Amino acid sequence: MVVGSEIVLLSYRIVMLMKLKKACVLISGICLCSFATAKGIEHNYNQLVKFGPRAVSTLPHFHTRNYLEKELRSMGYRTRREPFRYQRRKDRRTIVKMGRIVLEGRGFYSSINGVVNGVIAHVGGAGTAEDLNQANVKGKVAVIKRGKISFDQKIQNAQAAGAIAVIVINDKDQNFRGVTTETTPFPVLGLKSSMLAALKEGQKIKVKVNMLTYLKQGMNIIAFKPGVIQPKVLFGAHFDSVPQGPGVNDNLSGVLTLLDIAREQSQYPLGEQSYFVFFDAEEEGLQGSRAYVKSHTDKVKKLKAMINLDMVGVDVHPLKMAGSLALLGTARRLNLAEVTEEKLGRSDHIPFKEFGVPHVLLHRGLDQNYHQPTDQYLDFALIRQTSKVAQQLAGEIVKQEE
Ligand code: BES
Ligand code: ZN
Repeated sequence: MVVGSEIVLLSYRIVMLMKLKKACVLISGICLCSFATAKGIEHNYNQLVKFGPRAVSTLPHFHTRNYLEKELRSMGYRTRREPFRYQRRKDRRTIVKMGRIVLEGRGFYSSINGVVNGVIAHVGGAGTAEDLNQANVKGKVAVIKRGKISFDQKIQNAQAAGAIAVIVINDKDQNFRGVTTETTPFPVLGLKSSMLAALKEGQKIKVKVNMLTYLKQGMNIIAFKPGVIQPKVLFGAHFDSVPQGPGVNDNLSGVLTLLDIAREQSQYPLGEQSYFVFFDAEEEGLQGSRAYVKSHTDKVKKLKAMINLDMVGVDVHPLKMAGSLALLGTARRLNLAEVTEEKLGRSDHIPFKEFGVPHVLLHRGLDQNYHQPTDQYLDFALIRQTSKVAQQLAGEIVKQEE
């Protein structure tokens, strides 16, 4: 017996499926393989969401990996686990002390550990070279606001002006751990905005950055058709999440899209010409994609495209594509998505970009639940649309090649 709500659901699915233009078996006007695909997305979602937040090295993360492997194998792909190690740092005790006042901060990711005694010198503006020339920071602890220029630049300018430590004040009343590309020349830490008031010009201060460096292990999952050793296209999505939420848009949305592409292409040439990589530890600094590029330089060099899927389940704006100009040109010609040359979101395409690989990021913008416990929503129809766009783009890239 078919109950009313099932009829509504079925007709919703049929309408959704009718929008799909892929050639497939038609019975009474209903495309059966797309039906399976749309059902597949929902099924994968129901299974994966049950596990909870997928922070690296947690039980839900482990269940997710196993599920992905099982699902991909059932589609006829081989899967490979690629473990990698990376460094993390955490504060043991990072503080500033002024008399009896003690404020707890966060050491910068590449700060040296150390204790410095000095006096406070406030720096105006963003901490440009000019701002530092105006402030008298020689032999003192420079206090600089976050924003406008990079942390590296602020620190370099402070060093050139003779500072002995830097405190960066956040633009929000939240702790933060700044990331710099270079190891800092002196202790550098961040404080939340409300702590600024306690720092008085000329006051004696003790700055202590004490962090522990430790190793973690991540695990990328790679799916490919048996015997394929050189893919033309690499589809990627990170499957880890931040610990504070279930990461449904960031980035179960990308994972579901990747599974959908793999499922749909499993019987077509594109399935044989592609690798599907589920990156780990993206949220810990793009660790999985960095490790992948580093350990597969020959394969990566020969890629025609890396297509990264990140935050595609909530339409803050219609689907956008950013990345290499040639690929954007192809996408524009096919009218696939709103093509933009604006700054890319920071995600797993970056190590490929740095390696000179043609790349694109497909995304729909930062929603209000980003990195929050409330990141619990996505729209299956948007996943499906993203999957189609990614497949069309990849299909065209491979065709141009032939
Ligand atoms: N999913 C985001 C990146 C993103 C943002 C993609 C906007 C598409 C649109 C990613 O997981 C993230 O949070 N990245 C961090 C940096 C990363 C190196 C930890 C970020 O953007 O701050
Ligand atoms: Zn994120």
